[in-house]
Amino acid sequence: MTGSQKLILDTPVDVVVMAAGKGTRMKSKLPKVLHRLAGRALLQHVVDTAATLKARQVTVITGHGATEVEAAVQGNSGATGQFYLNFVRQEPQLGTGHAVQQTVPVLRDDGIVVVLSGDVPLTQVDTLQQLIHVSGGDKLALLTIDFADPTGYGRIVRLGDVVQAIVEQKDATPAQRKITEVYSGIMAVPAKQLKAWLARLDNKNAQGEFYLTDIVKFAVADGVSVVAHKIQDAVQVAGVNSPVQLAELERAYQKRIAVALMEQGVRLADPARLDVRGQLNCEQDVSIDVNCVFEGEVNLGEGAQVGPNCYIKNASIAAWAVIHPFTHIEGGAPGSKNAVEVGAGALIGPFARLRPGAKLGAEVHIGNFVEVKNSTLAKGAKANHLAYLGDATVGERVNYGAGSITANYDGANKHRTVIEADVHVGSNCVLIAPITLGAGGTVGGGSTLNKDTPVQALTVARARQISIPNWKRPQKAK
Ligand code: UD1
Ligand code: MG
Repeated sequence: MTGSQKLILDTPVDVVVMAAGKGTRMKSKLPKVLHRLAGRALLQHVVDTAATLKARQVTVITGHGATEVEAAVQGNSGATGQFYLNFVRQEPQLGTGHAVQQTVPVLRDDGIVVVLSGDVPLTQVDTLQQLIHVSGGDKLALLTIDFADPTGYGRIVRLGDVVQAIVEQKDATPAQRKITEVYSGIMAVPAKQLKAWLARLDNKNAQGEFYLTDIVKFAVADGVSVVAHKIQDAVQVAGVNSPVQLAELERAYQKRIAVALMEQGVRLADPARLDVRGQLNCEQDVSIDVNCVFEGEVNLGEGAQVGPNCYIKNASIAAWAVIHPFTHIEGGAPGSKNAVEVGAGALIGPFARLRPGAKLGAEVHIGNFVEVKNSTLAKGAKANHLAYLGDATVGERVNYGAGSITANYDGANKHRTVIEADVHVGSNCVLIAPITLGAGGTVGGGSTLNKDTPVQALTVARARQISIPNWKRPQKAK
């Protein structure tokens, strides 16, 4: 990344995020900037981008649903976030210029201010670094783009090559409306000048609003250069105004992730049918079938295979493990004891469910309709059919029969089940915890156990089978 690091100036970067608007077209009670893209609030994407940009300070302008919006992003900054996050309120909302005016008391004069919108989630950090670079710390830099249909956007008006103004759609002359270069809503501007220009804004325009975009005229009048940094990628400046646009951007985001994974060597059965809502890390020769959803932090080891229709959250799957179709894995917080671990060469599913704290060793087999929670299974242990293991410690090579369950909950407390190495638990057993099954023992099918079992023994706890010879079934009365 040395190339992009060179673009960073010595001037501190302070980010301002406009997020006071209502978002009427979402037709939702949830404030627009809290709608989720790839599992994160739109505004969180923007704040995380600011974090990656190594902003000194991020100021979010809130209005509609302010309390909810502030609570949602507070203390939730990206992993790289080492900045000061603060909020200013804008009530009522009198336009983008009025919004940024609210930040004046908290903006320091020595910074360069990058203005972003809370509903434009997919701007890339290197684009913003380039924008900051072209601003040079003393110019007004506008991020622009050419749109075949520029309707609704502010137009970049130039004299020759030199930017003169941004004219909003509703204020534009027919000739100006033909301009296809539009303002993206993103700019980089020296704080000191910005403050002076904000003080000069008025609302004498078609919408009766204070337009942030009017500062371009003031810059020109003051002899400060205005530079346009034009990009090609519309996704980076696309805003979310409706559920349709949200879904479009979700797909655009997922495509980016899918392409990056494939470039790294991951085989995706269909890049259009993958959803990553967090961080998916893959070693060499991983393959992922269709319709898989990954959440939180998921690590897939070398050669790991994920079958179709799996949901995997906060889990580390070791090398050559196979996750068969329709498996549901839901680990707790990454790095915590509740994250799920699947050992090398393990076979999981189809239709398996691994819950928080499932720790499976190498070559463990978990079959269909088996649920594992807060349990450790050592190398080679198997639970192949219709079973529950909760709060259990399971030794190497244990075979846990179909339909068996750990009765781990007495209605008040959870208790532990210990199944030592090489135990065979028959089908349909109930192991009432706390209980320890001694190594090498066998438990007869259908047993309900509430006492520890000795090593190497056969333990059976069920009514003895009897047969009554020549039994006559009752006859129906005539
Ligand atoms: C704005 C630009 C326009 C640009 C377009 C790009 C102005 C005057 N115009 O237009 O040149 O092409 O973005 O999308 O800036 N907001 C507030 N408080 C307000 C008004 C808006 O916080 O009082 C927030 C909104 O929530 C939104 C952002 O500012 O996140 C942009 O506002 P919006 O109303 O979408 O501006 P546009 O009219 O689209
Ligand atoms: Mg808009």
